[in-house]
Amino acid sequence: MNNLESSFAVRGRVLHFLRQPQSDQDLESFEYFPDGVLWIERGYIKALASADELLPKLPTGIQVQNRSDQLILPGFVDTHVHYPQMKVIASYGTQLLEWLEKYTFPEESKFKDLQYARQSAKLFLDGLMSHGTTTALVFCTVHPESVEAFFTEAEKRNLRMIAGKVMMDKNAPAELTDTPMSSYQQSKDLIEKWHNRSRLSYAVTPRFAPTSSPEQLQMAGKLLKEYPDVYLQTHLSEQLAEIEWVQELFPSALDYLDVYDQHGLVTERSVFAHSIHLSDRECRRISQADSAVAFCPSSNLFLGSGLFNLHKILQHEINVGLGTDVGGGTSLSQLRTLHDAYSITAMNNGNLNAYLAFYLATLGGAKALKLDHKIGNFEQGKEADFVTVDMQAIPVLGHRIEGVDDLHEQLFALMTLGDSRTISQTYVMGEPQL
Ligand code: GUN
Ligand code: ZN
Repeated sequence: MNNLESSFAVRGRVLHFLRQPQSDQDLESFEYFPDGVLWIERGYIKALASADELLPKLPTGIQVQNRSDQLILPGFVDTHVHYPQMKVIASYGTQLLEWLEKYTFPEESKFKDLQYARQSAKLFLDGLMSHGTTTALVFCTVHPESVEAFFTEAEKRNLRMIAGKVMMDKNAPAELTDTPMSSYQQSKDLIEKWHNRSRLSYAVTPRFAPTSSPEQLQMAGKLLKEYPDVYLQTHLSEQLAEIEWVQELFPSALDYLDVYDQHGLVTERSVFAHSIHLSDRECRRISQADSAVAFCPSSNLFLGSGLFNLHKILQHEINVGLGTDVGGGTSLSQLRTLHDAYSITAMNNGNLNAYLAFYLATLGGAKALKLDHKIGNFEQGKEADFVTVDMQAIPVLGHRIEGVDDLHEQLFALMTLGDSRTISQTYVMGEPQL
């Protein structure tokens, strides 16, 4: 391929974040080009500037795709989601522990079958693309086959994805349990095969404290020591009944987080999903360890888990990203997730301004996953994962923003009324996907 074939530009209303916005007046935290040009070369960002400035500098003959009325944003980042739960999304009438037993565990049992897992992984990744999500931190099931299927499909699409095999040796159906030793060996084999291959990374994945023995958590810690750049993902402090159960199971731990800490699982590459009912001590420890939490508002409402306090988490300077947590959450859309995030924050006497919201969905998520040197905004040299957004695709949204020039107001309408219909195209390393 010569340079021109592998090089193109997109022209539109380009927005990306440079750091976390401190308020709805923090105009220095982002760059916005009402008539901007994003130049991509061989899958990477070559330059971003206003059309006036950049068009004259582009190579002659280069293709310029015109999206002048559309927003161009970095691809969204989902910091917590379960690909094997697409079929239990929207299951009626339960809270966490009963929901796991009644709906989730029976469905996850099917992922021993590689073909079933491949079909599900395809459906899930198609779903992410149509919702504009280009990177995710993903739970598979206890079966190594589920991880093989996921990484195989993600690699085919050249996606930047992080995933891992669930470790679970108790308090679950027999067909869904492993042992400390088998979970260690299977995870190790998967790390050796998949970690840092293409754009993929591995996450050691003990489901949550109630489904792992101390011996298994120890093995998870051993893996993190042996492979210092793999991730750790698990659930933390989601529901009150769960927290009480953890206290009974681990009476010597200071609190829920300490169960993980005692086994070496609280590191700068750890992501704790939910983290709703944290004590100040737990917040301080997460902050000190430079770990991250995944705010999963749709799931927290749907399963009745509680109200995550975003501003308390930010005051503690904790890294935070957004998680859809499908199938506890009811949509793969980061826009719908932001709508719920706003409502939860309002219930906590706070506000989620639209700049902070879109930061969390892009650069904030990338930072929580320690990937902000590769993705999350349009700095030169970053991987060209991005979306184009057509606000006219939803009539009520188009009507709402008619005559509205203010960027913050437009973005707020988008996060409140938007969904996958507004995602007109998703690009992965410069390649259109839809
Ligand atoms: N805690 C342990 N497993 C799960 C799960 O699959 N979903 C949610 N939301 N919480 C969990
Ligand atoms: Zn989850």
